[in-house]
Amino acid sequence: MALILGIESSCDETSAAVVEDGSRVLSNAVASQIRRHAPYGGVVPELAAREHLKAINPIVGQALSDAGKTIGEMAAIAVTSGPGLMPALLVGVNFAKGLAAANRLPFIGINHFIAHIYATFLDTGIERLKEPSLYPMLALVVSGGHTALVLITAGSQARLVGTTLDDAAGEALDKASKLLGLGYPGGPIIEKTAVKGNPTAYHFPRPLCGGAGKPVPEEHRYDFSFSGIKTSLLYHCRRLGGAEIKLPETEFYDTVASFQEAVVDVLAKKTLKAAADFGAASIVLAGGVACNGVLRQRLEDLTPKQVQLYLSPRKFCTDNAAMVAGLAYHHLRLGRTDALTLDAFARLPHLSEVPFNC
Ligand code: KG4
Ligand code: ZN
Repeated sequence: MALILGIESSCDETSAAVVEDGSRVLSNAVASQIRRHAPYGGVVPELAAREHLKAINPIVGQALSDAGKTIGEMAAIAVTSGPGLMPALLVGVNFAKGLAAANRLPFIGINHFIAHIYATFLDTGIERLKEPSLYPMLALVVSGGHTALVLITAGSQARLVGTTLDDAAGEALDKASKLLGLGYPGGPIIEKTAVKGNPTAYHFPRPLCGGAGKPVPEEHRYDFSFSGIKTSLLYHCRRLGGAEIKLPETEFYDTVASFQEAVVDVLAKKTLKAAADFGAASIVLAGGVACNGVLRQRLEDLTPKQVQLYLSPRKFCTDNAAMVAGLAYHHLRLGRTDALTLDAFARLPHLSEVPFNC
């Protein structure tokens, strides 16, 4: 039995968790900074780091006490080492290094992006990850920092087949929400507000989907672009609501619903196209935006019967340390621990493999 303490501080959630053998989540404590960043309409990196500094010690203590365990019972300390906001990452990485050194425990740096994919199977189905019938697996990781399609083989090889050329989908929702005066974080607020509107009232562009007679360049067939859709929202709002962007009620709700529809439509279409082209046996939806009910339902409706669809449980979609501690189990199992000189990294590195199915 291996208990791992995981720590997550890549963005605006300070989280710590204790997970047994990669799947049994004994605790998952999360301190959210949403209220601190809300006035700015987005995450301010230095402010995030300062909040992590305050929260990290108590949250680690809480994770251990919720699990009914002591640090001495841990088999390793794991931490998100990237990608993410550098000032925020450094707090978690340094704290985890200190804990590992003081308690003479193995130290493991975790790729946050792969952890989001792993979160889908956490707590219920990591055994399934070993089934060859799941592969090739196509994962859509869609969050505030990423929008990417990853193809994973039964042999644990991973390849980024598509990514965003500019904004991530969550970032576009957050920026749209700010523009519409709806607040932060945009994704959940837009989802709630969109219920009151008609998603087909307006047509926002679907970039890189081949609409409006614009063929998709071959090299961007599976890529995303969300900055244009945001600009078109701005023009649309000015047209309907003037410089002050004061839209009448019906138009306002229809705008929110139509904007969300455009984002969901692009995500679903691109994913299903890539799944068909690569002969994917399963599709995985992960990351913060995977909380979105309209996106979940769309994939449920459109995924062909012969393809297995795995939607991340909502409680593990947004940033959390359970996915970090869970994935770290596989690093430990494979003897892949890290030196205390390990560096943090801000951007998604080249992906070539995942540790969870080998
Ligand atoms: O994975 P996450 O917690 O952090 C990053 O790694 O970025 O994702 C946060 C993102 C935010 O952009 C937030 O607006 C979005 O996930 N999000 C949602 C929903 N809940 C969170 N987007 C759409 N619908 C939701 N219900
Ligand atoms: Zn994340």
